[in-house]
Amino acid sequence: MPALNSMIPFKTIEYNEKKNEIVILDQTKLPEEEIYLRLKTVEDVYQAIKNMNLRGAPLIGVAAAYGVVMAAFKATPGEIIKAADYIKSARPTAVNLIWAIERMKKKVSDTKDSYTELLNEAHNIKQEDKDACQKIGKFGAELINNNAKIMVHCNAGALATSGIGTALGILYTAQNKNKNFKVYSCETRPRLQGARLTSWELTKNGIETYTICDNMAATYMPEINLVLVGADRIASNGDTANKIGTRGLAIIAQYYKVDFYVAAPISTFDFNIKSGKDIPIEIRGEDEIRKFNTKNIVAEQAKVCNPAFDVTPADLITGIVTEKGIIQSPYGKKIEGLTNDKH
Ligand code: MRU
Repeated sequence: MPALNSMIPFKTIEYNEKKNEIVILDQTKLPEEEIYLRLKTVEDVYQAIKNMNLRGAPLIGVAAAYGVVMAAFKATPGEIIKAADYIKSARPTAVNLIWAIERMKKKVSDTKDSYTELLNEAHNIKQEDKDACQKIGKFGAELINNNAKIMVHCNAGALATSGIGTALGILYTAQNKNKNFKVYSCETRPRLQGARLTSWELTKNGIETYTICDNMAATYMPEINLVLVGADRIASNGDTANKIGTRGLAIIAQYYKVDFYVAAPISTFDFNIKSGKDIPIEIRGEDEIRKFNTKNIVAEQAKVCNPAFDVTPADLITGIVTEKGIIQSPYGKKIEGLTNDKH
């Protein structure tokens, strides 16, 4: 079996120590162009996260960590903390961003060389993300039956992490075990992560992929065997925030008795909150809805709504695949049991 990480033919993020810059694959240009962006300042990192040049909860966490490293190159401890808090404010929903920043802040010191400490910690965060994806893939591959039809939403793939991905990492692992399956990928309005990104990375790896419009999900659901999605924040009771449209899929899946699994590393759990009611939902700019490419598609007088995420209640989620194994519903205290593994 080929090593899974080496099957991924692109690098989402790399820190160049000599130049003190972060190189990222610009996800806003895919699938047409594979362009790498060089982030040279804290402001560049903030903007790249906010504008979604890179996106996906785990990758945002890794980028934020390297952003703090960059800030530490020539700065006082106070300036490093200020830069870290600024990066943390780029997007509100993915808890990996807050988690990575808080972890990095603990390494800022008045007495030691903060830069070296922070560089090591950022490398650790990246490596842990890679390892977690690998393990999620291994556990989750058991859920894929031969000849299955699997529905996915948004992009929880290699593009959203520094490894093989979470939900899509499961698919790569199953493919590596010679399982046959087809993937139905929802286009994911308004930023089209499913249409642009998931179709790109799955087909690059030879996986049979059908891109469907979001409003086709109910039509295809009766023939689907499994819905597999990622997460941006999971509350202690299992309520899960993920890309807008995920809750609708979970409701449709329950109606048709299709298993609905979430795949996420432990860094995506927010043990400080009891339920999804406490998850802040990012509201993004109107133009993401008003315009298609550069063309206006909504009457000027009409108002628009653009919540970027929704919360799927725990009781609609069959199970959660983590690097520690699969937690099955009902979750009870099972999620709390994962806390020991979080830094
Ligand atoms: O707005 P995005 O593209 O950052 O949203 C991404 C998602 O919703 C993903 O499903 C989630 O971050 C998990 S990525 C492994």
